[in-house]
Amino acid sequence: MKFENVLSSTQGAITIITVNRPNKLNALNVETIKELHDAILEADQNPETKVIILTGSGEKAFVAGADISEFADFSVKQGEGLAAQGQALLFDFVAHLGTPVIAAINGFALGGGLELAMAAHFRLASDNAKMGLPEVSLGVIPGYGGTQRLPQLIGKGRAMELIMTAGMIDAQQALQYGLVNHVTTQEELLPMAEKIASKIARNSSVAIGAAIEAINAGYEDGENGFDAEINAFGKCFGTADFQEGTQAFLEKRKPAFPGN
Ligand code: COA
Repeated sequence: MKFENVLSSTQGAITIITVNRPNKLNALNVETIKELHDAILEADQNPETKVIILTGSGEKAFVAGADISEFADFSVKQGEGLAAQGQALLFDFVAHLGTPVIAAINGFALGGGLELAMAAHFRLASDNAKMGLPEVSLGVIPGYGGTQRLPQLIGKGRAMELIMTAGMIDAQQALQYGLVNHVTTQEELLPMAEKIASKIARNSSVAIGAAIEAINAGYEDGENGFDAEINAFGKCFGTADFQEGTQAFLEKRKPAFPGN
Protein backbone atom coordinates (compact mmCIF):
# COMPACT_ATOMS: atom_id res chain seq x y z
CA MET A 1 0.00 0.00 0.00
CA LYS A 2 1.21 3.55 -0.77
CA PHE A 3 0.83 6.22 1.88
CA GLU A 4 1.16 9.99 1.92
CA ASN A 5 2.50 10.48 5.46
CA VAL A 6 3.76 7.05 6.46
CA LEU A 7 6.63 4.90 5.23
CA SER A 8 6.60 1.15 5.68
CA SER A 9 9.51 -1.14 4.93
CA THR A 10 9.86 -4.83 5.64
CA GLN A 11 13.14 -6.68 5.90
CA GLY A 12 12.96 -10.28 6.96
CA ALA A 13 10.80 -10.54 10.07
CA ILE A 14 10.80 -6.82 10.91
CA THR A 15 8.58 -4.06 9.53
CA ILE A 16 9.63 -0.48 10.26
CA ILE A 17 6.77 2.02 10.08
CA THR A 18 7.86 5.66 10.02
CA VAL A 19 5.62 8.67 10.53
CA ASN A 20 6.74 10.92 7.71
CA ARG A 21 5.67 14.55 8.08
CA PRO A 22 9.02 16.02 9.14
CA ASN A 23 7.99 19.60 8.28
CA LYS A 24 5.27 19.34 10.91
CA LEU A 25 7.48 17.36 13.31
CA ASN A 26 5.41 14.30 12.34
CA ALA A 27 2.26 15.68 14.01
CA LEU A 28 -0.67 13.28 13.75
CA ASN A 29 -3.45 14.64 11.59
CA VAL A 30 -6.53 12.48 10.98
CA GLU A 31 -5.18 11.25 7.65
CA THR A 32 -1.89 10.11 9.25
CA ILE A 33 -3.78 8.27 11.98
CA LYS A 34 -5.76 6.41 9.29
CA GLU A 35 -2.61 5.64 7.33
CA LEU A 36 -0.83 4.38 10.42
CA HIS A 37 -3.79 2.10 11.11
CA ASP A 38 -3.65 0.72 7.58
CA ALA A 39 0.14 0.28 7.57
CA ILE A 40 0.09 -1.48 10.96
CA LEU A 41 -2.82 -3.69 9.92
CA GLU A 42 -1.00 -4.63 6.73
CA ALA A 43 2.15 -5.56 8.72
CA ASP A 44 0.09 -7.51 11.27
CA GLN A 45 -1.55 -9.51 8.49
CA ASN A 46 1.75 -10.27 6.76
CA PRO A 47 2.80 -13.72 7.98
CA GLU A 48 6.47 -12.79 7.42
CA THR A 49 6.34 -9.85 9.84
CA LYS A 50 7.02 -10.89 13.44
CA VAL A 51 7.79 -7.47 14.94
CA ILE A 52 6.81 -3.88 14.09
CA ILE A 53 9.04 -0.91 14.92
CA LEU A 54 7.41 2.53 14.99
CA THR A 55 9.55 5.62 14.58
CA GLY A 56 9.52 9.19 13.24
CA SER A 57 11.15 10.73 10.21
CA GLY A 58 13.98 13.25 10.59
CA GLU A 59 16.36 13.94 13.46
CA LYS A 60 14.11 16.09 15.57
CA ALA A 61 10.85 14.33 16.33
CA PHE A 62 9.19 10.99 16.86
CA VAL A 63 5.78 12.68 16.82
CA ALA A 64 5.19 16.20 18.24
CA GLY A 65 1.54 15.49 19.04
CA ALA A 66 -1.85 15.55 17.47
CA ASP A 67 -2.09 18.17 14.73
CA ILE A 68 -3.24 21.24 16.67
CA SER A 69 -4.29 23.09 13.50
CA GLU A 70 -6.92 20.42 12.83
CA PHE A 71 -8.89 20.65 16.06
CA ALA A 72 -8.45 24.28 17.14
CA ASP A 73 -12.10 25.14 16.30
CA PHE A 74 -13.76 21.86 17.31
CA SER A 75 -16.98 21.68 19.34
CA VAL A 76 -17.50 19.45 22.40
CA LYS A 77 -19.03 16.74 20.24
CA GLN A 78 -16.26 16.90 17.66
CA GLY A 79 -13.63 16.76 20.40
CA GLU A 80 -15.20 13.64 21.86
CA GLY A 81 -15.41 12.09 18.40
CA LEU A 82 -11.75 12.88 17.68
CA ALA A 83 -10.57 11.08 20.83
CA ALA A 84 -12.93 8.11 20.37
CA GLN A 85 -12.01 7.60 16.73
CA GLY A 86 -8.28 8.00 17.34
CA GLN A 87 -8.31 5.57 20.25
CA ALA A 88 -10.21 2.94 18.27
CA LEU A 89 -8.26 3.33 15.03
CA LEU A 90 -4.74 3.63 16.35
CA PHE A 91 -3.96 3.75 20.05
CA ASP A 92 -6.07 0.84 21.39
CA PHE A 93 -5.52 -0.95 18.11
CA VAL A 94 -1.73 -0.86 18.63
CA ALA A 95 -1.94 -1.75 22.32
CA HIS A 96 -4.00 -4.86 21.54
CA LEU A 97 -2.17 -5.93 18.41
CA GLY A 98 -1.00 -9.56 18.44
CA THR A 99 2.24 -8.58 16.67
CA PRO A 100 4.70 -6.91 19.04
CA VAL A 101 5.14 -3.17 18.48
CA ILE A 102 8.30 -1.38 19.66
CA ALA A 103 8.42 2.43 19.67
CA ALA A 104 11.83 3.84 18.75
CA ILE A 105 11.56 7.41 20.07
CA ASN A 106 14.01 9.47 18.04
CA GLY A 107 13.21 13.00 19.29
CA PHE A 108 10.15 14.87 20.58
CA ALA A 109 7.35 12.54 21.68
CA LEU A 110 4.70 14.96 22.87
CA GLY A 111 0.97 14.65 23.41
CA GLY A 112 -0.40 12.16 20.88
CA GLY A 113 3.21 11.23 20.07
CA LEU A 114 3.95 10.05 23.58
CA GLU A 115 0.50 8.43 23.65
CA LEU A 116 1.40 6.50 20.50
CA ALA A 117 4.72 5.42 22.03
CA MET A 118 2.88 4.37 25.20
CA ALA A 119 0.36 2.33 23.20
CA ALA A 120 3.31 0.37 21.76
CA HIS A 121 4.31 -2.69 23.77
CA PHE A 122 7.57 -1.11 24.91
CA ARG A 123 9.83 1.82 24.10
CA LEU A 124 13.46 2.73 23.39
CA ALA A 125 14.70 6.31 23.10
CA SER A 126 17.65 8.15 21.61
CA ASP A 127 19.53 10.45 23.98
CA ASN A 128 18.07 13.60 22.34
CA ALA A 129 14.46 12.49 22.98
CA LYS A 130 12.07 14.66 24.97
CA MET A 131 8.76 13.35 26.24
CA GLY A 132 5.67 14.93 27.73
CA LEU A 133 1.92 15.43 27.65
CA PRO A 134 1.59 19.23 27.26
CA GLU A 135 -2.15 19.26 26.52
CA VAL A 136 -3.22 21.29 29.57
CA SER A 137 -1.07 24.15 28.24
CA LEU A 138 -3.54 24.21 25.32
CA GLY A 139 -6.62 24.01 27.55
CA VAL A 140 -7.33 20.36 26.84
CA ILE A 141 -6.27 17.00 28.31
CA PRO A 142 -4.59 13.97 26.73
CA GLY A 143 -7.28 12.24 24.67
CA TYR A 144 -5.53 9.25 23.14
CA GLY A 145 -5.18 7.20 26.32
CA GLY A 146 -2.48 9.31 28.00
CA THR A 147 -4.29 9.80 31.31
CA GLN A 148 -4.53 6.01 31.64
CA ARG A 149 -1.27 4.68 30.16
CA LEU A 150 1.11 7.23 31.69
CA PRO A 151 0.15 6.40 35.32
CA GLN A 152 0.25 2.68 34.47
CA LEU A 153 3.82 3.07 33.23
CA ILE A 154 5.37 5.58 35.66
CA GLY A 155 2.98 5.71 38.64
CA LYS A 156 0.14 8.05 39.51
CA GLY A 157 2.08 10.81 41.28
CA ARG A 158 4.67 11.22 38.54
CA ALA A 159 1.96 11.15 35.86
CA MET A 160 -0.07 13.77 37.74
CA GLU A 161 2.97 16.06 37.93
CA LEU A 162 4.00 15.59 34.29
CA ILE A 163 0.47 16.19 33.01
CA MET A 164 -0.29 19.14 35.34
CA THR A 165 2.99 20.94 34.62
CA ALA A 166 2.76 20.20 30.86
CA GLY A 167 6.49 19.62 31.26
CA MET A 168 8.96 17.52 29.29
CA ILE A 169 11.37 14.90 30.57
CA ASP A 170 14.56 13.88 28.81
CA ALA A 171 15.54 10.35 27.82
CA GLN A 172 17.55 9.68 31.00
CA GLN A 173 14.65 10.75 33.21
CA ALA A 174 12.28 8.58 31.13
CA LEU A 175 14.66 5.66 31.65
CA GLN A 176 14.71 6.25 35.38
CA TYR A 177 10.88 6.42 35.41
CA GLY A 178 10.62 3.16 33.43
CA LEU A 179 8.85 4.93 30.58
CA VAL A 180 11.51 3.66 28.16
CA ASN A 181 13.50 0.45 28.51
CA HIS A 182 16.76 1.61 26.91
CA VAL A 183 18.48 4.83 25.86
CA THR A 184 21.10 4.99 23.15
CA THR A 185 22.56 7.40 20.59
CA GLN A 186 20.52 8.59 17.62
CA GLU A 187 22.64 6.45 15.27
CA GLU A 188 22.22 3.34 17.37
CA LEU A 189 18.48 3.66 18.00
CA LEU A 190 17.17 1.67 15.04
CA PRO A 191 19.98 -0.93 15.15
CA MET A 192 19.20 -1.50 18.84
CA ALA A 193 15.46 -1.79 18.12
CA GLU A 194 16.20 -4.24 15.30
CA LYS A 195 18.48 -6.31 17.52
CA ILE A 196 15.76 -6.66 20.15
CA ALA A 197 13.18 -7.33 17.43
CA SER A 198 15.35 -10.13 16.00
CA LYS A 199 15.49 -11.79 19.41
CA ILE A 200 11.70 -11.59 19.66
CA ALA A 201 11.26 -12.94 16.13
CA ARG A 202 13.04 -16.19 17.04
CA ASN A 203 10.24 -17.08 19.45
CA SER A 204 6.73 -18.35 18.85
CA SER A 205 4.62 -15.52 17.42
CA VAL A 206 1.46 -17.29 18.60
CA ALA A 207 2.74 -17.52 22.17
CA ILE A 208 3.87 -13.87 22.05
CA GLY A 209 0.38 -12.82 20.92
CA ALA A 210 -1.12 -14.80 23.80
CA ALA A 211 1.31 -13.18 26.27
CA ILE A 212 0.38 -9.68 25.03
CA GLU A 213 -3.30 -10.52 25.52
CA ALA A 214 -2.76 -11.87 29.06
CA ILE A 215 -0.54 -8.94 30.11
CA ASN A 216 -3.06 -6.42 28.74
CA ALA A 217 -5.95 -8.16 30.52
CA GLY A 218 -4.53 -7.11 33.89
CA TYR A 219 -4.95 -3.47 32.88
CA GLU A 220 -8.50 -3.76 31.50
CA ASP A 221 -11.52 -2.84 33.58
CA GLY A 222 -13.68 -5.84 34.44
CA GLU A 223 -11.09 -8.40 33.37
CA ASN A 224 -9.17 -10.72 35.65
CA GLY A 225 -5.60 -10.99 34.39
CA PHE A 226 -4.98 -14.30 36.15
CA ASP A 227 -8.07 -15.87 34.54
CA ALA A 228 -7.03 -14.47 31.17
CA GLU A 229 -3.59 -16.03 31.66
CA ILE A 230 -5.06 -19.46 32.45
CA ASN A 231 -7.22 -19.25 29.34
CA ALA A 232 -4.39 -18.09 27.06
CA PHE A 233 -1.96 -20.64 28.57
CA GLY A 234 -4.39 -23.47 27.85
CA LYS A 235 -4.93 -22.33 24.26
CA CYS A 236 -1.17 -22.52 23.58
CA PHE A 237 -1.34 -26.29 24.07
CA GLY A 238 -3.47 -26.55 20.92
CA THR A 239 -0.98 -24.76 18.66
CA ALA A 240 1.54 -26.11 16.17
CA ASP A 241 4.11 -23.70 17.66
CA PHE A 242 3.80 -25.46 21.02
CA GLN A 243 4.27 -28.87 19.39
CA GLU A 244 7.35 -27.60 17.58
CA GLY A 245 8.80 -25.72 20.57
CA THR A 246 8.58 -28.65 22.96
CA GLN A 247 9.69 -31.23 20.33
CA ALA A 248 12.69 -29.10 19.39
CA PHE A 249 13.70 -28.82 23.05
CA LEU A 250 13.46 -32.60 23.57
CA GLU A 251 15.39 -33.25 20.35
CA LYS A 252 18.05 -30.68 21.35
CA ARG A 253 17.61 -28.57 18.21
CA LYS A 254 16.48 -25.03 17.45
CA PRO A 255 12.73 -24.70 16.85
CA ALA A 256 11.34 -23.66 13.47
CA PHE A 257 8.02 -22.20 14.54
CA PRO A 258 5.27 -22.44 11.91
CA GLY A 259 3.48 -19.45 13.49
CA ASN A 260 0.12 -21.07 14.14
N1 COA B 1 0.51 20.18 15.53
C1 COA B 1 0.64 20.89 14.37
N2 COA B 1 1.79 21.40 13.95
C2 COA B 1 2.89 21.17 14.70
C3 COA B 1 2.84 20.45 15.91
C4 COA B 1 1.58 19.95 16.32
N3 COA B 1 1.45 19.22 17.44
N4 COA B 1 4.09 20.41 16.45
C5 COA B 1 4.88 21.09 15.59
N5 COA B 1 4.16 21.53 14.54
C6 COA B 1 4.64 22.30 13.37
C7 COA B 1 4.87 23.77 13.73
O1 COA B 1 3.66 24.48 13.67
C8 COA B 1 5.85 24.17 12.64
O2 COA B 1 5.14 24.34 11.44
P1 COA B 1 5.42 25.62 10.48
O3 COA B 1 6.87 25.51 10.12
O4 COA B 1 4.50 25.42 9.32
O5 COA B 1 5.13 26.82 11.31
C9 COA B 1 6.70 22.92 12.48
O6 COA B 1 5.92 21.86 12.99
C10 COA B 1 8.02 22.98 13.24
O7 COA B 1 7.73 23.22 14.61
P2 COA B 1 8.35 24.43 15.45
O8 COA B 1 7.42 24.78 16.55
O9 COA B 1 8.77 25.55 14.54
O10 COA B 1 9.68 23.72 16.03
P3 COA B 1 10.49 24.12 17.35
O11 COA B 1 11.75 23.37 17.30
O12 COA B 1 10.54 25.59 17.51
O13 COA B 1 9.59 23.54 18.58
C11 COA B 1 8.21 21.91 19.70
C12 COA B 1 9.39 22.17 18.73
C13 COA B 1 7.94 20.41 19.68
C14 COA B 1 8.61 22.37 21.11
C15 COA B 1 6.97 22.72 19.24
O14 COA B 1 6.77 22.44 17.86
C16 COA B 1 5.71 22.39 19.98
O15 COA B 1 5.55 22.83 21.11
N6 COA B 1 4.77 21.62 19.35
C17 COA B 1 3.50 21.31 19.90
C18 COA B 1 3.62 20.25 20.96
C19 COA B 1 2.28 19.97 21.61
O16 COA B 1 1.72 20.78 22.28
N7 COA B 1 1.79 18.76 21.37
C20 COA B 1 0.56 18.31 21.93
C21 COA B 1 -0.55 18.51 20.99
S1 COA B 1 -2.08 17.98 21.69
